[in-house]
Amino acid sequence: MDRLRIKGGRPLKGEILISGSKNASLPLMVAALLSDRKLTLHNVPRLADIDTMIQLLEQHGVEVTAGPGENGHARGTTLTLHAPKIVSTTAPYDIVRKMRASVLVLGPLLAREREARVSLPGGCAIGSRPVDLHIAGLKALGAEIDIDGGYLVARAPKGLRGARFTFPKVSVGATENMMMAAALAKGTTVLDNAAREPEITDLAECLVAMGVPVRGIGTETLTIDGVTSLQEASHRVISDRIETGTYAMAVAMTAGDVELVGGRLDLIEAAVQTLRDAGVTLSKTDRGFRVHRTNGALRGVDVMTEPYPGFPTDLQAQMMALMTRAEGASMITETVFESRFMHVPELARMGANVTIHHESALVRGVPTLRGAEVMATDLRASVSLVIAALAAEGESTINRLYHLDRGYERLEEKLAACGADIARIRR
Ligand code: UD1
Repeated sequence: MDRLRIKGGRPLKGEILISGSKNASLPLMVAALLSDRKLTLHNVPRLADIDTMIQLLEQHGVEVTAGPGENGHARGTTLTLHAPKIVSTTAPYDIVRKMRASVLVLGPLLAREREARVSLPGGCAIGSRPVDLHIAGLKALGAEIDIDGGYLVARAPKGLRGARFTFPKVSVGATENMMMAAALAKGTTVLDNAAREPEITDLAECLVAMGVPVRGIGTETLTIDGVTSLQEASHRVISDRIETGTYAMAVAMTAGDVELVGGRLDLIEAAVQTLRDAGVTLSKTDRGFRVHRTNGALRGVDVMTEPYPGFPTDLQAQMMALMTRAEGASMITETVFESRFMHVPELARMGANVTIHHESALVRGVPTLRGAEVMATDLRASVSLVIAALAAEGESTINRLYHLDRGYERLEEKLAACGADIARIRR
């Protein structure tokens, strides 16, 4: 299993190209299941999770072709997906267990084929992460859903019917599943308390390009008129706001100065405000934005994760890494997922002073972190260890790199180009 070796203490300087969003790309790829016409997606990052999704879609009958290399990538970032016929309505355990987002095929398969069997999902070990909201929503559209042998077994013998559904809790995945199911349901679907994440907006815009009327885009009420057939479409995936925030925090941690090319401040406003409060400078440029911290220490700030437009849970671990070296204390409260503090004992191995109390973590800044051997436990936790290691004295080794490879495109290459002493040890 690959490991990362990082020698800390070098400020990041230069520029980093922000990739297309992983969390936007996954549902956009799934949308291809709805249509017998081609869907072309530009700016798709090349990551393990994208490969897993390609594998899943191919076994359902989607023909996936990748364009030739672009933007310095060995493989293309343009994917063309075409599903003339669905050959299997089963999403098998072997693929679904690798990636929770696989559950997104449930709605589209059910809408198009009137049946679907999807293994109960796995994915990052952050909390229990049930799928009850997906099930309740699809039932409201007329589906019958049972659990049998570890599979969600769904049927809609007469097809799905549009309905009004209010999510009892904001869920990104359940909103996406419902939007896609509603696209082929008979009549109009109204989704209240829908997630408003930029990835939802991206999916809505792609559905519109495919010929599905969606109203209320960007608000908590989405109205979708079901159609009987879709048109050929192409769509450019938004830039990855979590990758953007992650690098902004890495630059801040090392007192560096980097332009994040393609990074969008408007997609991470809550994090931008928090970083500014902590003493980091972020300023818009023609190509993205510049982040730097050249004078003064970081200040401790309090953070609470919330659904968009609040501070994203997917940046919580990285923010905590940053706060380990701030002056003063920082209270970090996680309200979206339970047990999303697995990075805390690993950060402690590097000398961080963090106390967990229920859903909050009190971080008392320390003057120095020391390099250590640590273990990545989930995607964002892993990258928080990278951020800590970049500023730690001496050498760190980060084990279980496959988590990072699920979500960060060419991470060590991007950081090394800005002066980080970082290397992948393959075995
Ligand atoms: C997506 C993102 C993930 C991010 C999360 C929250 C992708 C591929 N993943 O995950 O990176 O951390 O949004 O921004 O886009 N819940 C239920 N029942 C359900 C579904 C969810 O109780 O049926 C709960 C979850 O346990 C969690 C909360 O709702 O506590 C939010 O989860 P959700 O927004 O659904 O996250 P994902 O879509 O899985």
